[in-house]
Amino acid sequence: MEISLRNQVAVVTGASSGIGSGIAKSLASAGATIIVNHSSERSTDEAKAVLKEITDAGGTGITYQCDVSKEDQVVKMFQDVVSQFGTVDILINNAGVQKDSKFTEMTLDQWNTVIGINLTGQFLCAREAIKEFLRRGIDTSRSVACGKIIHISSVHEIIPWAGHANYASSKGAIRMLMQTLAQEYGADKIRVNSICPGAIQTPINKDAWSTPEALDSLLKLIPYNRIGQPQDIGNLAAFIASDLADYITGTSIFVDGGMTTFESFSTGG
Ligand code: BGC
Repeated sequence: MEISLRNQVAVVTGASSGIGSGIAKSLASAGATIIVNHSSERSTDEAKAVLKEITDAGGTGITYQCDVSKEDQVVKMFQDVVSQFGTVDILINNAGVQKDSKFTEMTLDQWNTVIGINLTGQFLCAREAIKEFLRRGIDTSRSVACGKIIHISSVHEIIPWAGHANYASSKGAIRMLMQTLAQEYGADKIRVNSICPGAIQTPINKDAWSTPEALDSLLKLIPYNRIGQPQDIGNLAAFIASDLADYITGTSIFVDGGMTTFESFSTGG
């Protein structure tokens, strides 16, 4: 059994670091051409480094700067990708941020930034991707599906998270966005799913793993007793995007070392 994404074009948002970069490399190794999206000028070098790893390993792609919370930029990114590569087959809706704060001190700016990137950004990219999938129609030389969207959500789409109301709200909403799109476009053969990572070792949660004490307390939340790696998410993303997963749509798959079993209940309750 081989996971193949040959002849397919994948837009991976927020691919210059963390989980996005892991997914970009996995999809590339399965044969997809990767659009390594990054949000700003500042992340250009990182995006280029991810692309270099991809091309060094024999893959193909480009880097593309676009802030996913901005409608005009998202529309242009999809137009540019379609004019350069002909179409888009896979969207990995990954770009996301945390702006943590105790709820009563959370500013509107912290709220809007997180909702704008994590939720509105996923809406805008999904809308442009689905329009393109429908325009192209099914082409079985690429995939038996008309298109695939993978939302990168979080264990916090079901685990409430004190001090992170904006982030948890954005992830809870992604679940409904994903399920609604899967329902609305199932008959068009567009598959829509979410991957819900637990604690993955990336810059977004550096405080939770960069000292031995922090890592120790993090591991108390993870029955499998290790922190996740971007590759753990990339492996699943490549599978879900492939035709091997053709009957999977409208679901959230947790990749969390068991975090959602609520380990703190193992000795109480
Ligand atoms: C967050 C991380 C956190 C993990 C588990 C993720 O969605 O971005 O900061 O470590 O959930 O709590």
